[in-house]
Amino acid sequence: MEKSMDRLERMQAEAMLGGGQKRIDAQHAKGKLTARERVGLLLDDGSFEELGQLVTHRSNLFGLDKQHFLGDGVVTGYGTVNGRPVYVFSQDFTVLGGSLAEAHAEKICRVMDLALDNGAPVIGLNDSGGARIQEGVVSLGGYADIFHRNVQASGVVPQISAILGPCAGGAVYSPALTDFIVMTEGTSYMFVTGPNVVKTVTHEEVTAEQLGGASTHASKSGVAHLTCPNEVAVIDQIKALLSYLPQNCEEQPAMEAYGVNSGGAGGELRPALRDVIPESAMQPYDIRTVAAEILDADSFLEIQPDYAPNIIVGFGRIAGRSIGLVANQPAYLAGVLDINASKKAARFVRTCDAFNVPLLVLEDVPGFLPGTDQEWGGIISNGAKLLYAFSEATVPRVTVITRKAYGGAYDVMNSKHIGADMNFAWPSAEIAVMGAKGAAEIIFRKEISEADDPAGKLAEKEAEYAELFAHPYRAASRGYVDEVIDPAQTRQKLIRAFDMLRNKSVARPKRKHGNPPL
Ligand code: HXC
Repeated sequence: MEKSMDRLERMQAEAMLGGGQKRIDAQHAKGKLTARERVGLLLDDGSFEELGQLVTHRSNLFGLDKQHFLGDGVVTGYGTVNGRPVYVFSQDFTVLGGSLAEAHAEKICRVMDLALDNGAPVIGLNDSGGARIQEGVVSLGGYADIFHRNVQASGVVPQISAILGPCAGGAVYSPALTDFIVMTEGTSYMFVTGPNVVKTVTHEEVTAEQLGGASTHASKSGVAHLTCPNEVAVIDQIKALLSYLPQNCEEQPAMEAYGVNSGGAGGELRPALRDVIPESAMQPYDIRTVAAEILDADSFLEIQPDYAPNIIVGFGRIAGRSIGLVANQPAYLAGVLDINASKKAARFVRTCDAFNVPLLVLEDVPGFLPGTDQEWGGIISNGAKLLYAFSEATVPRVTVITRKAYGGAYDVMNSKHIGADMNFAWPSAEIAVMGAKGAAEIIFRKEISEADDPAGKLAEKEAEYAELFAHPYRAASRGYVDEVIDPAQTRQKLIRAFDMLRNKSVARPKRKHGNPPL
């Protein structure tokens, strides 16, 4: 027995070293952690149970017969995060560059299958040179096996991807199919083809960082949901994301005790909200100041903060209840809806709806952005994504109109007509087809052009239109707005509304699936 234990211990020790101490040192020298160190940071102490530690590849081509690494370049298993079960895979760059082939893929598929069968999140810690070139088509098959599982698991269990090193080729598509991508700044890249291929094909000179670094994907492509300065912060963000989500689509997100982080019962009146809206409708303000008053203290986790900043999305808590916030941002492009803002918000709304996270919308939107860029870029089908996402969402949905709710954007931003449950407006709300000046210019064009003083006439007609429409009371008289509220009461009203809606259940017509304008 002693002898066989020796053998086991020797193999376990070998597995712990992945591609060997030299490569571990090289990994550390790049400012990166090893696959096992990352798993250790993510999971509760002592909770990790490893699967497939002794798995190796079965290839004998290109010298692989002489290079067998226990675990085949990926650490897989299960454990807990803050007491909640999760499944994890962590690619080991020290083994053949974390490249993926047959056995490596099978190990990932196994934890994904277990996660789906048992209804718990999957966390992927990615650090990989892509398809293992020596193994050829089985590497491609392995990727496709994972992609297929990503899609089967989509909307059933949360899937979160950390990008902690180079992710090239096939290594980017699995993360892209998951719910969230979190990247490290400076040490992670994602691209379908790297700088060398780009140079050959398009003659563009571009660095890996410019092509697919964290800041590129945070601000230009929108591929990354969050970026962090180091790996410890990435793992912390993953834990934070998990805290707002349930284990699977059959469960509700966990409630935090009311009063712990919320300021407590009785602290709901927020008089500061009376002073947020500027005197002039043309003046911007930061919608985050409104969110900060409404949400529990320090509970806001903004998603994609650097992409399409004219709309803000993120998770927060209201009296301990997890909610998804979608808010127009008047401080950037007047909060207009454009292609990127529509895509960003639509994706977030669908994520929240999939995982039973109620939606809160703060609305101050002048409309859709005009222009050839937008029209030729497909603002029609992209704007429709947001319309579709809100319309199909069955979670509790509450809107607060703080100021402008104009045109098609009024309909799209979670109006009662497309299924919002409660719609509040502040007295400063302006709910109309368009702003008073634009409206006056169109409907009184002839009268204004024929007037002795056209500017004076325009001002008069603008005031007339504003008096009739630049307020919430017409919408309230129709019931489109449930209540016009004192801004100071907003948090209190929302606590009660979300509590009232907590058992909401909606049956949709039977169908295979809808067909959103993807
Ligand atoms: C096998 C690989 C590998 C790969 C890296 N390695 N990528 N082995 N298959 N895809 C090995 C290297 O040979 C090296 O082995 C070790 O990993 C570390 O790699 P380095 O190049 O020394 O590291 P670094 O300088 O940090 O560069 C990392 C890298 C680069 C940017 C990832 O290695 C690279 O460009 N690799 C190739 C990327 C790629 O083209 N992948 C295929 C994509 S096609 P030693 O023994 O020296 O330590 C694809 C198709 C799937 O994925 C499509 C599905 C839709």
